[in-house]
Amino acid sequence: MTSDPPGGVRLQKVLARTGFGSRRSAEVLIAAGRVTVNGETARLGRRVEPERDRVAVDGVEVGILPGLVYWLVNKPAGVVTTARDPEGRPTVLDLVPAEPRVFAVGRLDFATEGLIICTNDGDLAQLLAHPSHGVDKEYLAEVEGDPPPAALRALREGVEIEPGVVTAPAKVARRGPGVVRIVIHEGRYHQVRRMCEAVGHPVRRLVRTRLGPISDDRLVPGQCRELAAHEVRALREAASRAGRSGGIGTE
Ligand code: URA
Repeated sequence: MTSDPPGGVRLQKVLARTGFGSRRSAEVLIAAGRVTVNGETARLGRRVEPERDRVAVDGVEVGILPGLVYWLVNKPAGVVTTARDPEGRPTVLDLVPAEPRVFAVGRLDFATEGLIICTNDGDLAQLLAHPSHGVDKEYLAEVEGDPPPAALRALREGVEIEPGVVTAPAKVARRGPGVVRIVIHEGRYHQVRRMCEAVGHPVRRLVRTRLGPISDDRLVPGQCRELAAHEVRALREAASRAGRSGGIGTE
């Protein structure tokens, strides 16, 4: 028998959020022995790690409601994030199946590469797009020059990217000469580019490598894959947690 994770989320809450009615009806399912966590029958009061644990009802993994789809796309440079581009440039929606119709959650610049989610789940999209629920977004930036410790510190503490607008604290680490890993939870226009510009090291190449709990270094640029049920659950949990704590490094 595996032990409960010390933090975690109550199982009935996870079930209620993934469409199994109220917490009370979720408790009835658990009490009836119809819910398993990682293959073991769950008991009432069980806590789970949405990122890791596989929750199933009557043997079917929970997390995705019928009709909803979630594509994780690795956007190449030279692709826009809007549904239709007046200039006729390729859009991220050209990279996913046409049906059911989906939309991109948030945006990446034309020149930015990396992970973006396309879905028809308006609730999750709204949750993720809400400024106070912004999940961590991790970028790898190749910049001009090699930022010294003072520049990295400034990026970490917050930089003024336009008069009166200072970015929130970020996690910043040098990954090699001229390569910086930056984790932010805000989503201001051209934020990472403007942050690097502000410390005198303009971005040459920018790749988003993680969105909250979601990353995938095997997904090649231009390809997409469906998120697994546990990934959707983890994303929803991360967004709800970010909303409660409102800061970086709290996931
Ligand atoms: N920051 C940017 O500057 N551009 C993006 O596309 C995403 C974050």
